[in-house]
Amino acid sequence: MEQTKFIPALRFKWLTPLYDFFLGITMPEKKIKQVLISSADIYASAKLLDFGCGTATLTIMAKQSSPEAKVTGIDVDKEILVKAAKKIKEEKLDVFLLDYDGKHLPFQPNAFDRVISCLVFHHLDTDVKQNMLAEIFRILNKDGQLTIADFGRSRSWIQRTLFNLIRILDGFKSTHANAKGLLPEMISDAGFENVVVKKRFKTMFGEVQIIGAEKI
Ligand SMILES: C[S@@+](CC[C@H](N)C(=O)[O-])C[C@H]1O[C@@H](n2cnc3c(N)ncnc32)[C@H](O)[C@@H]1O
Repeated sequence: MEQTKFIPALRFKWLTPLYDFFLGITMPEKKIKQVLISSADIYASAKLLDFGCGTATLTIMAKQSSPEAKVTGIDVDKEILVKAAKKIKEEKLDVFLLDYDGKHLPFQPNAFDRVISCLVFHHLDTDVKQNMLAEIFRILNKDGQLTIADFGRSRSWIQRTLFNLIRILDGFKSTHANAKGLLPEMISDAGFENVVVKKRFKTMFGEVQIIGAEKI
């Protein structure tokens, strides 16, 4: 499988083991993930994909909140999925994990009812963002929903300035559309409707927004 280049969870592979700790001390991670899950309207029999699941914190929370849902986590980084698998095993959960080439989601059209994603899109260059939004649209059912938590353009200049710390860490190219507040428009361009910023969280690295969208 030919894999595209990607930005790891904390930019450098050697920092990946610190990812959970770092996130926990720098932002209200659990709160953001709880709001993401409640916004995603996950029903009992839903087929759910966590796109860019990383160490699977969100994947685990989603499965625990809807134990009957069929939950899958996907990430481009094989190594982080080893950690994710360990956490899922410790929680004794039935969750399917897989890696992919970073371009084509290895699923049939209409394979999922819900897609959730947390802090992934600011890792993707603009063309990759647009491609992956189109891929997510393809694999979602009619009436499916996409719910994303990621950095967006804040009304507060302090939050906008703080986001530069993430831009220095993760790169100016991949964070460009986030800084400009273009993510909602890009989600619409991929075919989604009712694209709404549902909640905004101030963090020490800038504003994290929960964005909901529907495939009608
Ligand atoms: C900041 S971490 C977020 C992990 C997890 N979603 C969370 O909230 O803790 C970003 C994740 O995006 C993944 N990623 C980067 N490029 C990706 C791509 N093209 N497709 C899927 N995942 C990608 C990274 O491997 C990493 O696990």
